Amino acid sequence: MMKSEWIEKGYVDEPIDASIDLKAEIRRLCKEKDAIILAHYYTVGDIQDIADFVGDSLALARKAAETDAGTMVMCGVHFMAETCKLLSPGKTVLCPDLTAGCSLADSCKAEDLKRFKDGHPGYKVVSYVNTTAAVKALTDCVVTSGNAKKVIDAFPADEKIIFGPDYNLGNYINSVTGRNMLLWDGGCHVHEKFSVDAIGRLKRQHPEAIVMAHLECKAPVLAAAEVKGSTATMLAYAQNSPAREFIVATEPGILHEMERTCPGKAFYPVPPETDEGKPGCTCNECEYMKRNTLGKVYNTLKYGFPAIEIDPETAREAVKPIEKMLSLS
Ligand code: 13P
Ligand code: SF4
Repeated sequence: MMKSEWIEKGYVDEPIDASIDLKAEIRRLCKEKDAIILAHYYTVGDIQDIADFVGDSLALARKAAETDAGTMVMCGVHFMAETCKLLSPGKTVLCPDLTAGCSLADSCKAEDLKRFKDGHPGYKVVSYVNTTAAVKALTDCVVTSGNAKKVIDAFPADEKIIFGPDYNLGNYINSVTGRNMLLWDGGCHVHEKFSVDAIGRLKRQHPEAIVMAHLECKAPVLAAAEVKGSTATMLAYAQNSPAREFIVATEPGILHEMERTCPGKAFYPVPPETDEGKPGCTCNECEYMKRNTLGKVYNTLKYGFPAIEIDPETAREAVKPIEKMLSLS
């Protein structure tokens, strides 16, 4: 297949010899190419198992800034690979499938943010890391769900702030800091599906279970949760808590690491509140995260495609708010 077809598809679509041990070959290629694999908790378990580092978006950004490896394969979504490239511009950042986007990042276009910003002089722009490099280039400081409160607390109490694109996260930070940030009306299609009713049904079946929810969930879901935070926050809570059962309102990929590191504890993923939410359905999964497969990781390492490229002028501006976040958190 010609490279132009890879470009069109956004990934290398080459057949892989079915007789090879894919996991062993990926590790061999990593060694040969001085590459590391970074994986988000929402990727499939097979990818988490072969990764050098698995983490939430904050930990992945930190890792990208400090690694010595010449190449990083970012198994997550496109904005995460962009963040790696912004923090390590001299390194090769491979993204197994460029079409692994993010509905939240899509909910804030740079041109719309620019217009909104121009209409609100004197406001600082704080953006969630789930944004494009072009949006970050218009941003004063980035946050992740793992550090949003800490970063916002570092701003003077009377600072006027535009916060985007995740409305639910911004609304939660407003509620815990007493601020009145102007909120962008964006959201994640996965986390918006969770409902208090679905949590209530699970809680009736497992009355001892602790309810945990990601900060991208809607306010009533967060109000029903005893633990609210990033994926890493929920994982650390489950690891350190004496409780044995947990109801988890986030993308269910995180259950792989929860079950691996918490033997004997039970984790119940919250189903989405839709007609599709039947037992066994996968409709609370992030289809973008699930575009990362072992085959694509193998091919991206083998062919060195697709690699992330960012327009240098955009990159120069976009890295500043990420570095500001890392210095504050
Ligand atoms: P974390 O910051 O918890 O890794 O979440 C990232 C994300 O995309 C959640 O949907
Ligand atoms: Fe984006 Fe939602 Fe997928 Fe996270 S779960 S990567 S916010 S679409």
